[in-house]
Amino acid sequence: FFFQAEDGIRDYKVTGVQTCALPIYNLVVGVSKSGADLRIESGNLQIDQRFWLEALEKYGASASFDEVIKLVDPKRSNSLIVFTGLGDAEKITPETLRRAAGAAARSLFGSDSADFALPHKSAAELSAICEGALLGSYLFMDFFSKVANEKKQPLQKVNVVSRFTDTDLVKKIIKRTLVVAEQTAMVRNLINTPPSHLTPESFCKLVSELCKDLPIKAQTYKSDYLLKNGYGGIIGVGKGSANPPALLHLSYQPKTKAVKRFAYVGKGITFDTGGLALKPALGMEAMKSDMSGAAAVVAATIAIAKLNLPIAIDAWAPLAENMVSDNATRPSDVIKIYGGKTVEVLNPDAEGRLVLADALVKATEVAEKAGGLDGIVDVATLTGAQVVALGTRTSAVMTNNEDFSDLFLTATKISGEQFWPMPLPEELRASLDSPTADIANIGERMGGMLVAGLFLKEFVKPEIPWLHLDIAGPAYNEKNAHGYTPVGGTGIAVRSLITLAELAVSH
Ligand code: BES
Ligand code: MN
Ligand code: ZN
Repeated sequence: FFFQAEDGIRDYKVTGVQTCALPIYNLVVGVSKSGADLRIESGNLQIDQRFWLEALEKYGASASFDEVIKLVDPKRSNSLIVFTGLGDAEKITPETLRRAAGAAARSLFGSDSADFALPHKSAAELSAICEGALLGSYLFMDFFSKVANEKKQPLQKVNVVSRFTDTDLVKKIIKRTLVVAEQTAMVRNLINTPPSHLTPESFCKLVSELCKDLPIKAQTYKSDYLLKNGYGGIIGVGKGSANPPALLHLSYQPKTKAVKRFAYVGKGITFDTGGLALKPALGMEAMKSDMSGAAAVVAATIAIAKLNLPIAIDAWAPLAENMVSDNATRPSDVIKIYGGKTVEVLNPDAEGRLVLADALVKATEVAEKAGGLDGIVDVATLTGAQVVALGTRTSAVMTNNEDFSDLFLTATKISGEQFWPMPLPEELRASLDSPTADIANIGERMGGMLVAGLFLKEFVKPEIPWLHLDIAGPAYNEKNAHGYTPVGGTGIAVRSLITLAELAVSH
């Protein structure tokens, strides 16, 4: 992990005159637009407004999102002022600040440290600034032969300028930010790691290792166990690969009595070739991200444990590699999901729902033994149809319980992750009927995201509040970096899963 935050906030003198009292090398400030006028938004820190506004006008600054302008302070040639766009001055939200801080952090790769002076009145705004700065300071360097200097490294140190005097609150914000940024980086690393280096087995080992010093029990169900005990979905998808499948279970039990118990289930396909329904070569490389859901649920669980939230979490990651081989599942093969339902595999590229079905049934069984379940959330890069419907930056939420999805959508508004509710129309269910088995793994093509959701719904109990998050587009950024989002794995869903647990404490 390539970031570090100072454990405290540096004390600035607010002088009310032109420049700050302390030497600053990289100073990040905001610039917004009010009508035709630019406005400098440096929070509690005062800089020479008239001078810098004139410079920005000359430069042609627009204050739009992702516009970052770096200017040298003529009075101190070793000082760089970094102006980051905040958009409309009247519409600045925590997420605006998070993105602006992230964009500035990305523009500062190669620098050691920077001081962020951005406007904030609430804890949510301060928190967003801290988060954006750290989330933007990410680079995946594991596979370059020459490290460090070749690729410019992200910021090593982030200072945030604030006049918040409640040190307990500030400490809490810093702690949470560090946990969120560390776990987001973990998810991004797992996604970016090539499938040659991330197999179902190595995923389990790596994550179990991380849980050793935490109040989390990690258990790996290996391929032999899964075969003997009827996990036909995970086995059916994984049997075409030389890298055997696995089911990873993390269990976090809070020290104090748990207020609620959730199960988080994430799709963990370490590579999706499509199996015998082989995908076209063009773009197949992005399918190393098909374990984004699994990475998100384990990272969220680790974060929830590190934050000592009084919510019990069971995370389940059904892991497999969907490959082509003489042993791969054929179109028309019938498999039996854990618990007994049979599925006709008409398309081996619709594999995510098969591994998730096993895990959803198991998660329900285990939680019911432990005293019931207040909610089950699955997270998956499930369908290309999700990307068609909502694009690459908005994920979908489907549910059997409006109250639970409302709570989750509230969490997404706090976390700044874009999610949108989608329906599960009953009339599409019949398209999944199979003449040979209980259900087929594909149905009507139109509304494919919803059909996939309806398939999963067959494997959850109607009385248990359930959310299905399809993150196919937003999990992996194949375009340009923006805001605090890098190219490659994004870490989407982690922050909302953490926030959901936080909200559930008092809900
Ligand atoms: N992993 C893919 C979905 C996907 C597509 C994720 C694009 C990210 C970007 C999934 O396993 C898949 O192949 N789905 C098929 C389902 C179809 C065969 C019903 C799809 O969406 O084409
Ligand atoms: Mn597939
Ligand atoms: Zn897939």
